[in-house]
Amino acid sequence: MEVKRVHLKDFTTLGVGGPAELWLVENLDDLARATEAPYRILGNGSNLLVADEGVPERVIKLGGEFAAWDLDGWIGAGALLPQIVQEAAKRGRSGLEGLLGIPASVGGAVRMNAGTRFGTIAEALAEIEYFHEGRLIRVGPEALDFGYRKSGLPEGSVVTRVRLDLKNRPSAEILARMRRVDQARKGQPKRKSAGCAFKNPPGDAAGRLIDLAGFKGMRRGGAMVSTEHGNFIVNLGGASAKEVWALIEEIRKTLPLELEWEVWGRFP
Ligand code: FAD
Ligand code: EPU
Repeated sequence: MEVKRVHLKDFTTLGVGGPAELWLVENLDDLARATEAPYRILGNGSNLLVADEGVPERVIKLGGEFAAWDLDGWIGAGALLPQIVQEAAKRGRSGLEGLLGIPASVGGAVRMNAGTRFGTIAEALAEIEYFHEGRLIRVGPEALDFGYRKSGLPEGSVVTRVRLDLKNRPSAEILARMRRVDQARKGQPKRKSAGCAFKNPPGDAAGRLIDLAGFKGMRRGGAMVSTEHGNFIVNLGGASAKEVWALIEEIRKTLPLELEWEVWGRFP
């Protein structure tokens, strides 16, 4: 196990976030040790806004055994979802098509129940293994409370690995479905972001509301409400968490939206 001081901006897709102690755990013994003091779990950092001051807790990242995977067996929570989506398509295994384009780790995808209107990860899970209060627990997806961007995993639990429930389908059919998902994502920006900032309110789309209210293109320093999609805040280069937060506050003065992002550290 390696422990080092890092800047979390180097570990988040938004490219924002201050210092922390990173614990790179490779096996269960490492994980047990790393969780002996207050901690947070870092996946691929694609749904995170981290404060410029960083966080005092240990930041645990899953590697080694936890990043190993076998499509038809156990898939480590530290593995990257896009690789698994591609491998499934290649092998004619269907169920992950709707997750195309989500830059998650498997553990982060489960924790957030990542998905699109074409499907969520919860629908493709056969079994989830997680570490909680010193023990490994295995459950089926029905035992958790999966919903829109939520998993119902107990507070502090660490997803360690999962098994998937995929169906055999012709690769051409899978690829056609993936093309439709890709098409639906065409309006999303390619710049650094953490995906959609806000959850969609029932029956509407946060991006549409932010667009209608005229926030697209609004800037605070290096942070900008994407001109392409209103629910994305992009880092044009060197944005601080404070600047990103200022945009969130501006939007929320007008629109009662709930954050989708996980926020780490202190914000006003
Ligand atoms: P992180 O951002 O690292 O962490 C998110 C949360 O999960 C944190 O609370 C963290 O503590 C927790 N976590 C991470 N790993 C574990 C673990 N092993 N055990 C327990 N908790 C854990 N999301 C969608 O749902 N649909 C989309 O279409 C989508 N598109 C996106 C497009 C872009 C360009 C980007 C940048 C993001 C997008 N997202 C989307 C958001 C993001 O990819 C998802 O929320 C994803 O599930 C986050 O996974 P992660 O591994 O990056 O988690
Ligand atoms: N819209 C606008 N202006 C904008 C953006 C969107 O008018 O600036 C309109 C679109 O024209 C469309 C509606 O709003 O009528 C919905 O937009 P879109 O199809 O882009 O989907 P979304 O609801 O904004 C959701 C997820 C995305 C996911 C896509 C694809 C949420 C918060 N967002 O976006 O997930 O990729 O569907 O299915 O649920 C994420 O969660 O981080 C994320 C990116």
